[in-house]
Amino acid sequence: MLGENKVIFSGVQPSGNLTIGNYLGAIRNFSAFSEEYRCFYCVVDLHAVTVRQVPAELRRRTYETLALYIACGLDPEKNTLFVQSHVPAHCELSWMLGCSTMFGELSRMTQFKDKSQKHADNINAGLFTYPVLMASDILLYQTDLVPVGIDQKQHLELARNIAIRFNHLMGDTFTVPDGYISKDGMKIMSLTEPTAKMSKSDPNKNAVVYILDPKDEILRKFRRAVTDSGSEVRYDEDRPGIANLMSIYRCFTGKEYDEIEREFDGRGYGDFKAAVGEACADALAPVQAEFSRLMADKGYLESVMKAGAETAARAAARTMSKVRRRLGFIDLK
Ligand code: TYM
Repeated sequence: MLGENKVIFSGVQPSGNLTIGNYLGAIRNFSAFSEEYRCFYCVVDLHAVTVRQVPAELRRRTYETLALYIACGLDPEKNTLFVQSHVPAHCELSWMLGCSTMFGELSRMTQFKDKSQKHADNINAGLFTYPVLMASDILLYQTDLVPVGIDQKQHLELARNIAIRFNHLMGDTFTVPDGYISKDGMKIMSLTEPTAKMSKSDPNKNAVVYILDPKDEILRKFRRAVTDSGSEVRYDEDRPGIANLMSIYRCFTGKEYDEIEREFDGRGYGDFKAAVGEACADALAPVQAEFSRLMADKGYLESVMKAGAETAARAAARTMSKVRRRLGFIDLK
């Protein structure tokens, strides 16, 4: 079978309610790999605590993110779904790789710079070393392919460099991963400020459509979305508001831009925004229904977490044993 032994890894932080950016840029694309690859999809709770979290909310969102994985079509029988803090090897490898990652490399990470600005009162060491933990997530499983949105490209590039350097210094140890950035939905923008990424931590709730938003909220948010001057539904990168809405509509309907332009020829932005809202709400309705069903059964979600953690820990242990030996630690059997 094609790609039988190839490994996929990706992760989502349970640091806020998930958005249609997370859905279109990442989670929706995950299930396509389940048949042909060995897939690990992780709820990266250790990453989330680089920003202050309310413990009860973090716990709830961890269940919710796992439930959303399943609701978005990831079958726990075909994918290893797990929570990062349940597999301690992520932290262990992160320390070891941190010792061969340079201060200068981490200083160049744009997400670190952005987040330090946003959380000026809490520029902690974890925020700085975050990309090393992300590299460890990926390299622990000998990952071939990492499906993510384009905002993670720089972190991925660093993970590759960390792997290449380690292999060079210590001998072949890690698979060097490639990113898989799907053209569709790779960067969904804010509805109120379409030159900025739609982000789950945006304090302006009108800027963000959440996967779990009820239909009337979704319609309202799209109705109020910022568009550019003009009234024609035509794709133009210099008009980021309408370009973003067209890209969202394209993702949800599968229609190409020229088809969308023909569909709304002679009709104004109002009609178009209503159609984008309808398409989004229709696509999310089955996900929301399945999510509610799953959240009512925490016992089931915990059984998925347990089984996932066991499978992941087994795979991680193989890499850790190799890394320990390479670095000169005594690997007790
Ligand atoms: P996170 O939790 O911010 O986002 C999860 C996934 O959603 C994608 N994404 C977007 N895609 C398109 N448009 C947007 N507006 C948008 N916003 C978010 C992200 O690119 C990501 O794929 N550091 C990662 C989590 C992580 C990880 C990993 C990912 C930790 N370890 C290992 C892959 C492999 C993050 O903060 O994602």
